[in-house]
Amino acid sequence: MCLAAAGCGERRSGPPPAVTISPAVSAPATTSAARDEHSYGNPAEIRVRHADLDWDVLFDRKVLRGTAVLSVERPSGGRATRLVLDTRDLDVEKAESSRDGSNWTAAAFSLAPADKILGSALAITLPEDATRVRVTYATRPVASAVQWLEPPQTAGGKQPFLFTQSQAIHARSWIPLQDSPQVRITYRARVRTPKDLLAVMSADNDPRAVRDGEYDFEMRQPIPSYLIALAVGDLKFAPESGRAGVWAEPAVLERAAREFSDLEQMIGAAEELFGPYRWERYDVLVLPPSFPYGGMENPRLTFATPTILAGDKSLVSLVAHELAHSWAGNLVTNATWSDFWLNEGFTVYLERRILERVYGRQRAEMEAVLGFQDLLKEIASLPEKDEILHLNLTGRDPDEGTTDVPYEKGALFLRQLEEAFGRQRFDRFLRGYFDHFAFQSITTDDFVRYLRSNLLDQDPAVAARIPIEEWIEKAGIPATAVKPRSDALARVEAETRRWLEQKVPASSLGTRGWSTQEWLHFLRALPTPLGRDRMAELDSAFRFTSSGNSEITHQWLLMAIASGYEQAQPRLEQFLTSMGRRKFAKPLYEALVRTPEGKTRALAIYRKARPTYHPIAVTTVDKIVGWGA
Ligand code: BES
Ligand code: ZN
Repeated sequence: MCLAAAGCGERRSGPPPAVTISPAVSAPATTSAARDEHSYGNPAEIRVRHADLDWDVLFDRKVLRGTAVLSVERPSGGRATRLVLDTRDLDVEKAESSRDGSNWTAAAFSLAPADKILGSALAITLPEDATRVRVTYATRPVASAVQWLEPPQTAGGKQPFLFTQSQAIHARSWIPLQDSPQVRITYRARVRTPKDLLAVMSADNDPRAVRDGEYDFEMRQPIPSYLIALAVGDLKFAPESGRAGVWAEPAVLERAAREFSDLEQMIGAAEELFGPYRWERYDVLVLPPSFPYGGMENPRLTFATPTILAGDKSLVSLVAHELAHSWAGNLVTNATWSDFWLNEGFTVYLERRILERVYGRQRAEMEAVLGFQDLLKEIASLPEKDEILHLNLTGRDPDEGTTDVPYEKGALFLRQLEEAFGRQRFDRFLRGYFDHFAFQSITTDDFVRYLRSNLLDQDPAVAARIPIEEWIEKAGIPATAVKPRSDALARVEAETRRWLEQKVPASSLGTRGWSTQEWLHFLRALPTPLGRDRMAELDSAFRFTSSGNSEITHQWLLMAIASGYEQAQPRLEQFLTSMGRRKFAKPLYEALVRTPEGKTRALAIYRKARPTYHPIAVTTVDKIVGWGA
């Protein structure tokens, strides 16, 4: 069926030819052909290798309108005449194909009915020798990856802002692509914006870019679609080193630059540990507070929430984490979302190694203990099937796989390997792993095979102590796991006990010099619900309700909800209406809806907050509070 408004089979000559660039790195696109159940794409028959993108950013209509020229390749001898792409909520105006990139012929296309999770397959018919497809299309205001912010939702308050979040399967809501992590592409993009705004992408941003409303980008390393990202706003740049810096709205730039002043040191530490940084620049973009994640590892340009700007660098582990993805995830990528732990488990492990180098063992160990606690807590409430590293996501939205299991259980597994084989051998293995699979997408099986032949088989006696199969395919945590421990946090526990046993008032506890991690540990070690007067005692001694640290605020507000501590109520409402980070919003709404009064409160707060949240956060919170039910 042909749905093209311009008619099908009609010959047209298009805009100037798209230029094909040769990628900076050439590598096989994937090692094994695991089926990706979250994509309709048909890369085995015909594969997208490069995209030339061209958009107008229409703030008044909340629409991105333009073209995607996709260069395709068939396996040798392949004669596929049907290219299947993923889309969601796209208005496709026409499709064309070309042999040479300059003469274009209308191509018949059909858009299948939408699946709630996967969107609509876009099938385009093309001659067997066509090498390019051009799709002319527009996004809709509801695009799940895109958030269009009104000026009041920004720090400056005067200009609108736009940003995208493509992971896991949202790229298809703004670009028609084979939206699968096993399809790597290079890209070029031209973005037209209002003249006084600046655009940045997960590409070669120019720190000295002049604001003129037209921006060109190039990403020469092949990346999966979930790493394509765009932001447009009143952005300025501050350098941290020759290859690293910070982008943010002018009002937060200085604060952000100070918070991230260890950026270059982190990159250096990561390179010493895991091999060269292969993406040239590393910049961090601080987004408005509705960014639904803590951070997103968009290559060359990490996207980050402003809620980590604590003023004392206490939450910069998030930057170490996103930086670590430059090796785990961006360089060696999970081939399917069931292999997500290969991205996140590795990254958490690397993150702590970077922290240890830059801030010392004590800091890294505290973070490991807190992460381990998160894992235990998460596992206690998860169904067994979700405690498995190698996830089964059949019929599910991959965003649901984002529990602490792939992160913390994955990291714990690698930590056991490290301790069993010793750092020296394990580090050599890791570096070899990143080199071997650089710019490829791999499955859990690929990893296990590589692990066996490059580490386990070399020392069978040590290998025998590690239950590989249990780690990867079974629920729970293997009994032999190395439990992280921290002397600093053990001292915090001792102080906590003194207060709980009523030996001292809160104000005389030995809390001098406590770091954010120690305070978090203190709060988490307290039983809930805690009596209201005990909450009040803590609050008057330590001013938790007015803390400017988002992690401490979050922890305190959870306790306040559980304990019925009314004094924190205005702060709770203020917190939930001033940021849309899912990690904070989700548990707070969940805690609220546990009682009927809390649920009423949740709905009242959410009514105000919902219009300010990103579509991804809206999907999550709608379910929790029963919005529209
Ligand atoms: N890649 C993730 C974010 C993500 C995961 C987006 C799955 C969509 C689907 C990112 O690297 C991440 O893990 N962010 C964490 C912070 C980190 C320090 C654990 C977050 O946003 O909380
Ligand atoms: Zn991550």
